[in-house]
Amino acid sequence: MLLNKVEKLLMNNPVREAAQRYYEAKRLRELGGATTGGRALEIGCGRGVGVEIILEQFDADTVDAFDLDPDMVRRAQARLERFGDRVSLWIGDATDIRADDGTYDAVFDFGIIHHIPDWRAALREVHRVLKPGGRFYADEIYEKFLKHPLVRALLDHPREDRFDHARLARALEAAGLHVEASHDEGHFGFFVARKP
Ligand SMILES: C[S@@+](CC[C@H](N)C(=O)[O-])C[C@H]1O[C@@H](n2cnc3c(N)ncnc32)[C@H](O)[C@@H]1O
Repeated sequence: MLLNKVEKLLMNNPVREAAQRYYEAKRLRELGGATTGGRALEIGCGRGVGVEIILEQFDADTVDAFDLDPDMVRRAQARLERFGDRVSLWIGDATDIRADDGTYDAVFDFGIIHHIPDWRAALREVHRVLKPGGRFYADEIYEKFLKHPLVRALLDHPREDRFDHARLARALEAAGLHVEASHDEGHFGFFVARKP
């Protein structure tokens, strides 16, 4: 589901970048460490800050990334041009990832699964494209936050069948991703899960 105008403003500004760079990435590194090189994928890359983080803070050799919104992909292309062939970007859907089975050492989700009506299908796709032993790093937003009246008034999200930390943990396991570490902040949380 595409972001409305308000959420797009909230995503494309220096405050969001600082939160992603200095808080969310830090939490995920504390839980799972770096990717120790290799090939990474970011689903729902937005304007491309996550790709920079995966290269610079998680030590990936290359990052593929996509977003449902062509405008976000254009922003990411402009931002990430300097990385040359270490980065590949496309317009795409996390429920139907354009990659072969077992392609990636790591897949990253900086807050996009909660935007997807059939989010379990996205988890199955993450499992499919990970190599055996590869890891999924996820930073997600929970039902408690999405149900807040102000959030409902200002932002657009699917309303049915959302999740909290425990529910997301069960869905990761059901998709074949073994949860190795997680941290629940109530309104949002963090996971590192491995494909056996
Ligand atoms: C809350 S924003 C997060 C963007 C970026 N990851 C960040 O942390 O700044 C959610 C992003 O997911 C994208 N998105 C929503 N549904 C998607 C889907 N099914 N497949 C790929 N991207 C999707 C939106 O276009 C948006 O860029």
